[in-house]
Amino acid sequence: MRYEVVLPAAGSGKRMGAGQNKLFLNLADKPILVHTLLVFEQDENCTGIWIAVKDEERPFIRSLIEKYNIVKVKGMPTGGEERQHSVHSCIKEMNAVDVVLVHDAARPFITIPKINELAEVAYEKGAAIAGVRAKDTMKVVHNGLIKATVDRESLWMVQTPQAFRYEILAEAEDLAEKAGFLGTDEAMLVERLGHDIHIVECSYENVKMTTQEDLVFGEAILKQRK
Ligand code: C5P
Repeated sequence: MRYEVVLPAAGSGKRMGAGQNKLFLNLADKPILVHTLLVFEQDENCTGIWIAVKDEERPFIRSLIEKYNIVKVKGMPTGGEERQHSVHSCIKEMNAVDVVLVHDAARPFITIPKINELAEVAYEKGAAIAGVRAKDTMKVVHNGLIKATVDRESLWMVQTPQAFRYEILAEAEDLAEKAGFLGTDEAMLVERLGHDIHIVECSYENVKMTTQEDLVFGEAILKQRK
């Protein structure tokens, strides 16, 4: 299934504490952003890449795209205050396609087969997101006290890619903006409209580079894959 992908890359990465956009940090020999871009560049079903960027970082990102010979980038609109705004800036700029994927630029270990599975399910059923089962026992805590133990069987930690038929995500983004609704992922915006969203079991390796420990884990994944 052919698709276009939106990569929000306009965050500041404060939790990484790197003093710069964490996506520019190297994992092995390449910046995190380049690892992510290369996955989609190499997937023959990906027909276009949209990157939400900060204006002041656009020249550097452009230089990376040239250096690593990435030819599928169709646009680099200015991102926004929140991730949702960054994604929306891309959705508004792109032409309608059958399927659009949103993938955190900070998740460089996504694999092509998983991307394609998500795109297929989204095409057939409207919406599909990557996730993994919760591993630990989960508790509800208020003011430092356990209030309940949650049934782990029904708990999933969701990731990206999140894949949608384009018109579903575009409508959800527009309506969220009109209502001033801010979600933490695209699925939340689509859930508001009552659509079913299918979960596709992914891998714990599809980690988002968020804090320093994630970089250590990331280096280990790359070594093992080699
Ligand atoms: O901060 P976090 O890692 O959760 O952000 C997920 C992704 O969203 C990152 O790739 C980040 O660059 C992007 N982002 C964005 N615009 C924002 C905030 C985050 O494009 N305002």
